[in-house]
Amino acid sequence: MGVLEISSFSSLPSIWSNNIWRSHFPIKGNQGRVLAMASTVDAEHMTKSKQRLTGDQFIRPHLRKLSPYQPILPFEVLSTRLGRKPEDIIKLDANENPYGPPPEVLEVLGSMKFPYVYPDPESRRLREALAEDSGLEAEYILAGCGADELIDLIMRCVLEPGDKIVDCPPTFTMYEFDAAVNGADVIKVPRKPDFSLNLELIMDAVEKEKPKCIFLTSPNNPDGSIINDEDILKILDLPVLVVLDEAYIEFSGIESKMKWVKKHENLIVLRTFSKRAGLAGLRVGYGAFPSSIIQYIWRAKQPYNVSVAAELAACAALQNSTYLEKVKDALVQERGRLYELLKSVPFLNPYPSHSNFILCEVTSGMDAKKLKEDLAKMGVMIRHYDKKELKGYVRISVGMPEHTNILMNCLRSLS
Ligand SMILES: Cc1ncc(COP(=O)(O)O)c(C=O)c1O
Repeated sequence: MGVLEISSFSSLPSIWSNNIWRSHFPIKGNQGRVLAMASTVDAEHMTKSKQRLTGDQFIRPHLRKLSPYQPILPFEVLSTRLGRKPEDIIKLDANENPYGPPPEVLEVLGSMKFPYVYPDPESRRLREALAEDSGLEAEYILAGCGADELIDLIMRCVLEPGDKIVDCPPTFTMYEFDAAVNGADVIKVPRKPDFSLNLELIMDAVEKEKPKCIFLTSPNNPDGSIINDEDILKILDLPVLVVLDEAYIEFSGIESKMKWVKKHENLIVLRTFSKRAGLAGLRVGYGAFPSSIIQYIWRAKQPYNVSVAAELAACAALQNSTYLEKVKDALVQERGRLYELLKSVPFLNPYPSHSNFILCEVTSGMDAKKLKEDLAKMGVMIRHYDKKELKGYVRISVGMPEHTNILMNCLRSLS
């Protein structure tokens, strides 16, 4: 594809501009007649044809089929709607880290010297700090506006419209969403009832459907299960780009696979500051890429994707590894307590988790959506699922011990 440069539009013959019009906006029946007359520069008909033009005609066809965006309620709106102060809402619905970042983050944000200067497009300070944190050299690391941005960026670099990805639901829904935005088809290989990957079906799908990439999440959102090394290695042997999303790896006690990108040309590993460092609101994620791939991601990336504030905050967070470790330990310990308590609730069946959330099947005739709504009225937010694979399930993020206590009181009141 090239770029057509037109220096003087007024010099184009009217028939040509009409043809361009037709090729962009395929026209039917009567509409065609109106446009043909418009080319004779009849002012009145020109106005009529303009009235027939609607904005959605400019939108790429595959995007016109996208389901409407379902925004989450901003915290302040939620607080007004529930009639509670934000600090009185127990927010266990988005796997955020309730401890927030180390105190150094707020200090550094409060004393920012150059907010009026554009950020470093290469996030050099942050990538050096991440190299030290991960043991992988900075040249393999690229930072993004959350792991979310990197998922989309990878797809934009890899997928042509009509290409395929493999998705293993139930899992993080952004893979499916971004595939649709990028015009790709999604081959779904559902997980087994215990939420482990169905390796045989994945191999089959790769052979038959020839997808460009597969998205794997470990620990998986929403159930918290992990993928063992043996299975990851088997998938890495397939002719497919493997994007391993480790957004919650810190809570699993398992070492990140970031360093593996030096050995595997078809592996990308994604991580984030949203969970480990309580920085979800500042949007910082990062990825480890093989050299043969990262050069293209650099070319396609928006230059200023990581803001000055985000980079400063992430660097300050990494400087206080003692705090990050302490908060992680507190959440892992609380996960164990919450799991035991949830087991005692007569209408919940919790799944063991390696992450900072617990998936529960809602049993005994209790409705999952109603449970979520009843808890919301009491100021406790949890996530409920109504999609095919997870109908009748809820996911509860691990909070502070006092959050668990309030949640349990509310659940007991509903028993
Ligand atoms: C599996 C998974 N990957 C990535 C993300 C997004 O991370 P970020 O906040 O860095 O965009 C999430 C967020 O919940 C997630 O659950």
